Amino acid sequence: MKINNILFLTCIGFFVILIHSCNSTKETSNSMAVLTSEKVEDDEVSKKVKELLSKMTLEEKIGQMNQYTGFFDPTGPSPKDGNNKEKYEHIESGQVGSMLNVRGAKEVRAMQEIAVEKSRLGIPLIFAFDVIHGFKTISPIPLAEAASWDLEAIEKSARIAAIEASAAGLNWTFAPMVDLYRDARWGRVMEGAGEDTYLGSKVAVARVEGFQGDDLSANNTIAACAKHFAAYGFAEAGKDYNTTDIGLSTLYNVVLPPFKACSDAGVATFMNSFNELNGIPATGDAFLQRDLLKKEWGFEGFVVSDWGSIGEMIAHGHAADGKHASELAANAGSDMDMESHLYVKHLKELVESNKVSMKHIDDAAGRILKIKFDLGLFDDPYRYCDEAREKELILNKEHADAALDMAKKSIVLLKNEKNLLPLAKNGKKIALIGPLAEDKTSPLGNWRLAGDDNTAISVVEGMKKYNDSFTYSKGVKFVEEKTMFHLHVPYNKDDKTGIKEAVNLAKTSDVVIMVLGEHGMQSGEGRSRAQIDIPGVQQELLEAVYEVNKNIVLVLMNGRPLALPWAAENIPAILEVWHLGSQSGNAIAEVLYGDYNPSGKLPMTFPRNVGQVPIYYNYKNTGRPGPKPEVFWQHYSDMTNDPLYPFGFGLSYTTFKYSNLSVTKNGGNNVSVSVNVKNTGKVAGEEVVQLYIRDQVASVTRPVKELKGFEKIRLASGASKTVQFTLTDKELGFYNNQRKYIVEPGKFDVMVGGNSVDLLKDEFEL
Ligand code: BGC
Repeated sequence: MKINNILFLTCIGFFVILIHSCNSTKETSNSMAVLTSEKVEDDEVSKKVKELLSKMTLEEKIGQMNQYTGFFDPTGPSPKDGNNKEKYEHIESGQVGSMLNVRGAKEVRAMQEIAVEKSRLGIPLIFAFDVIHGFKTISPIPLAEAASWDLEAIEKSARIAAIEASAAGLNWTFAPMVDLYRDARWGRVMEGAGEDTYLGSKVAVARVEGFQGDDLSANNTIAACAKHFAAYGFAEAGKDYNTTDIGLSTLYNVVLPPFKACSDAGVATFMNSFNELNGIPATGDAFLQRDLLKKEWGFEGFVVSDWGSIGEMIAHGHAADGKHASELAANAGSDMDMESHLYVKHLKELVESNKVSMKHIDDAAGRILKIKFDLGLFDDPYRYCDEAREKELILNKEHADAALDMAKKSIVLLKNEKNLLPLAKNGKKIALIGPLAEDKTSPLGNWRLAGDDNTAISVVEGMKKYNDSFTYSKGVKFVEEKTMFHLHVPYNKDDKTGIKEAVNLAKTSDVVIMVLGEHGMQSGEGRSRAQIDIPGVQQELLEAVYEVNKNIVLVLMNGRPLALPWAAENIPAILEVWHLGSQSGNAIAEVLYGDYNPSGKLPMTFPRNVGQVPIYYNYKNTGRPGPKPEVFWQHYSDMTNDPLYPFGFGLSYTTFKYSNLSVTKNGGNNVSVSVNVKNTGKVAGEEVVQLYIRDQVASVTRPVKELKGFEKIRLASGASKTVQFTLTDKELGFYNNQRKYIVEPGKFDVMVGGNSVDLLKDEFEL
């Protein structure tokens, strides 16, 4: 079998590792199944696929590889004469395989009818949409959900999103985003599960299973899409779409595992990415898509390009023109062209001139048809188009309850001096201050395309349910502008007129709750920030209020970790609530008033200063670790290496004590670890017990700690529990620079605790 790509790792002139094309039998690794054919198994579906392919013309096969965005209201005036004439005709002539952004049972049915009734073979379209954190009922942004470390709740959240989306005619979501990242400047950190590979892989699988359920053909499940393959989250300097250049070890040990986990879990589709990786745009990367994903991992679904990413290979300087871009992408294994409009223009000629083989076209079209069969679209292309079901299921009470549960679980208590929280339900004079407290849109966060503006429960509304005697003042404003894409871009730089009123209010109150942070559209795609502080004049508002009243509870709404050293030092209570979705205000109020005891733990490190990023818990020790009372060790001269809040960190209204860490070797590479956890506080609470290891000496250096297990437990006041973990090859090994998964003998540290810093420690030897 052929491995035909090159990966390299450059370390500032020290060494270059090159893995080159070779024509040898591929080594089998401990954990990767190696398939020898990119063809799907010869089962019943593949027979049907083959049979259908045999009836299709080249144009029709290429048509399956073409995806357009929604371009007209299919239930409205005829598009035959307008700007959309060509797209309409392409559906009629079987030259479109999929539509994105068409939604609604009626609208999807109308468009499906064109494909099914008018095209020669009547092949149904597959309808895609970015169902990222809920459809109409909006759940917390994915980063927030990951903070729950509650895989069951996360799976349920995806399940509900699938139920609502499928009721609106959809059968494919572009989620989960399983990109790993370490830079809070990147706007899309809100869309993933944080910085850790182990947690990220578990969350990725929970989401895939939630969307796809047990049976893809059921009318309430949808195909999932692991994106963006690969390394999009390592965009240089956290700038969206930027170049990615990472070494082999990071690629294999950090970036790829969540994708591999999705492939193993049977995810139906992958999406490639906008970025180049080590000089090759991912969309044109045959190593990633063909050799690794389809051959080595045995992935049987299809790969969709990212929006226009085939055409973008021209700007990357990799393709000369649209035709060349199509050739590169098709040969690399990008099966479906999302909105570049290039396959449909050039592939036929490329096949006829032998630049793209018929085998590749059959493989791509076959993979797309297979997923359509799996979805049951050939049995009934309208199975997702039931208006009665749509009415009954979307925004129903059960979904709201689940969104509330998920929202509460996503909240992280960062600081709580003198037990300022929870608030007494009566008898205190409370001031509520901040522009986000009455905002009913921002809490929905970015990537909630079907979610309607102004539909989240605000903090003002949530608190009123407890006690409406508090007084509210906005303090400062978010002023929204419309860009050419009609997306809200918030500016809140200058207007300080409301600060005086807020300060006066704070003066006469017992406690001040300040809801500050990022507008819902300040994170997400294209929303990278060079500064990651509390934006605009909100910091000034916070400090002005602090001058007159120090009893402040800071409620932070944001889509990324923020650098807020002043607040962390001075404000006695801080609650990280992210963008929590439709039920935001209810969830926050329940936590503020103590009806829910927070248990979230950070899935991403909070820096003290933007200059520290990329900052992450599983760093390497280097040859000059510290701290040392001298100059020559790896550190900054003006800033500590420590984060503001570490990965895995989060407080509770109770406290937990860890004891009796014990390690037992069971023979082979099998080690049991147990620890006792006791609730030493006055109320019941939940704790995420985290297990980390360090391979002390390895042929490829290992991080100072790596998460390899966690369990969320609930303990009544005074109760304790022994939590058990098992470490096996899967947790103990790593990929070396020959891409081989190995477990090396030697000493390992094992660390257990309630965050990545405060840990009990022991060791064992393999
Ligand atoms: C994003 C994808 C998304 C696609 C379709 C792109 O800009 O990168 O994540 O699925 O648009 O909306």
